[in-house]
Amino acid sequence: MREYLLPKEGFRVLFVIGKGGVGKTTTSAAIAVALAERGYKTLIVSLDPAHNLGDVLMEKLGDKPKKILDNLYASELDMEKLIKAYLKHLEKNLKNMYRYLTVINLEKYFEILSYSPGIEEYATLEAIREILSEGDKWDVIVFDTPPTGLTLRVLALPRISLIWVDKLIEIRRKILERRRAIAKIKGEEEYVIDGESFKLPKEEEEDPVMRELRQYRKEVEFVERVITNPEKTSVIAVMNPEMLPLYETERAYESLKKFKVPLRLIVVNKVIQLREEVPELKVKMEAQKKVLEEVERKFRGIDVVKLPMFPEEPRGLEWLRKLGGMIIGGS
Ligand SMILES: Nc1ncnc2c1ncn2[C@@H]1O[C@H](COP(=O)(O)OP(=O)(O)O)[C@@H](O)[C@H]1O
Ligand SMILES: [Mg+2]
Repeated sequence: MREYLLPKEGFRVLFVIGKGGVGKTTTSAAIAVALAERGYKTLIVSLDPAHNLGDVLMEKLGDKPKKILDNLYASELDMEKLIKAYLKHLEKNLKNMYRYLTVINLEKYFEILSYSPGIEEYATLEAIREILSEGDKWDVIVFDTPPTGLTLRVLALPRISLIWVDKLIEIRRKILERRRAIAKIKGEEEYVIDGESFKLPKEEEEDPVMRELRQYRKEVEFVERVITNPEKTSVIAVMNPEMLPLYETERAYESLKKFKVPLRLIVVNKVIQLREEVPELKVKMEAQKKVLEEVERKFRGIDVVKLPMFPEEPRGLEWLRKLGGMIIGGS
């Protein structure tokens, strides 16, 4: 049994990553089915806007976890809706905090923000954070992810966000310091907006901006702690025995290492196994052999499991059970 797929400190989080079409959804679903059948309460969530988890499980799925088996629940998140909700939440917060800055046309600003690069990554991270914050409901949470590039950017975000939020906290602290210095000299000033009198906050505890920054920092730090803890999180990279998926897996490996997110398993899926030689496939078989050797050589210390190319698409519980057993290993 591959221990790093099982819960250890509370719940276990598995991210299944890889290029489109390599078998991420099939692998995630197979792992989830196998874990559920071994008694672990498992949630599988598709974060890929191009959902196909429902097709693989042969169930209609939605936002809310749907019971598939005893101990197995599945959902497909509507990323479009999540991005909208995320922007709405930002807008509400900003309006609350800056209601005295009526000069800034926030509406216009939000229109631009919804098309700004990075917004999908932030919304995806927020979706992950919400699920992890209720992680204790589950033994294992399996994330079926969007293609590699986006997923890696999402997994890198907490660390990057911590750097900039710390910088913002520092700047805000300086602003408050200056306000206190000015108040000492000029006396406390009051502003009136819409008939309501208003003082600029000067202390960290009464400043809503500082409170928001601190809250945000806490949330990001929580996600960062979960995804960099090897007792809690394992990343599983799925690839096919071909050169391009190999290169992509290598880049993912380097990137995850940099952000201290533990890659534990490489699933080489759709390995062609022939009972006898087929002349038409000779070149392909040689290329495959080369990639398999490269995998052994390049990812030393990382577990590798090979799954054969099946003559039919492995869908439905029967197939997933069988595949899942091959991935999680015997007891
Ligand atoms: N080992 C396998 N043998 C044969 N077909 C497979 C295998 N693994 C996956 N497939 C098929 O390949 C296609 C892509 O798999 P999928 O899990 O949807 O990939 P992804 O989620 O990475 O896009 C699907 O049609 C799936 O049924
Ligand atoms: Mg998929």
